[in-house]
Amino acid sequence: MTGIKIDGKIIAQTVKDRVKKATTELKSQGINPCLATVLIGNNPASATYVKNKHKACEEVGISTKDHKLDENITQQQLSEIIDELNADVSVHGILVQLPLPKHLNEFATTSRISPIKDVDGLTPHNAGLLAMKKAALVACTPSGVMEMFDYHNIDLEGKNIVLINRSNLVGKPLYHLLLEKNATVITCHSRTKDIEKFCQSADIIITAVGDRTKFILTPEMIKEKSIVIDVAISRFEDKLVGDCDYDKIIEKASFATPVPGGVGPMTVAMLLKNTITATSLGIQIGRQQ
Ligand code: GUN
Repeated sequence: MTGIKIDGKIIAQTVKDRVKKATTELKSQGINPCLATVLIGNNPASATYVKNKHKACEEVGISTKDHKLDENITQQQLSEIIDELNADVSVHGILVQLPLPKHLNEFATTSRISPIKDVDGLTPHNAGLLAMKKAALVACTPSGVMEMFDYHNIDLEGKNIVLINRSNLVGKPLYHLLLEKNATVITCHSRTKDIEKFCQSADIIITAVGDRTKFILTPEMIKEKSIVIDVAISRFEDKLVGDCDYDKIIEKASFATPVPGGVGPMTVAMLLKNTITATSLGIQIGRQQ
């Protein structure tokens, strides 16, 4: 028996429908939710992601401001642009697309964003609130994964969950979100010895490596009826792939996400949701327009 597909496109649409309603309501009160994106350099994958984010905003009625910056911009110039967006009352959310060109500092950049406009949940303020169970703005991919569990009524309490990622954008926020749900969470990474042993004892595996030359999650590595969430997306042998082959893993898993069409659409949907949350935070402190 094969498992159940967790369809990110369908679940993302339910989120978008809710966001569209909230946007319409805000507009009827004269408030126009707006997301500013900042894209630096010429990374084609990043350009596509930003384009998709703009398209999704348009679908639900959120306005956008598009900043495309030269590859050679200095840290100081970038900080000035972020400061301008922080001060712009018509902008409610700010997203600086990652990765940045090598000469720019990711921490200095993301922590420059006003915490109430931080739709990626990457500022120290929001990352700290998440660790203390008080977050309003949480990184989009992790909250999208949680939305997938919710949609399928997957109970996380007492589950052994293995994360294969420790980044600020995926692994660390997920660790806190899963812990809040009373799961037992193990974080594996590139230096973990014997990842296979951890995977075999996991009820749920959330994998986000994104490099097939380094890691592939095979059916032999997972427990019968476990749940596999594949966050990775990379180009391999001219195809978009995750860390596992969905068609093979679903033969053994009880639930799994495909790539593409799994976690990816959820990330975009949660960005829209965060933009509405950021708009509400702006209203609460009287900075809306
Ligand atoms: N690059 C890949 N994923 C993301 C994301 O969720 N946010 C930002 N800002 N950059 C990314």
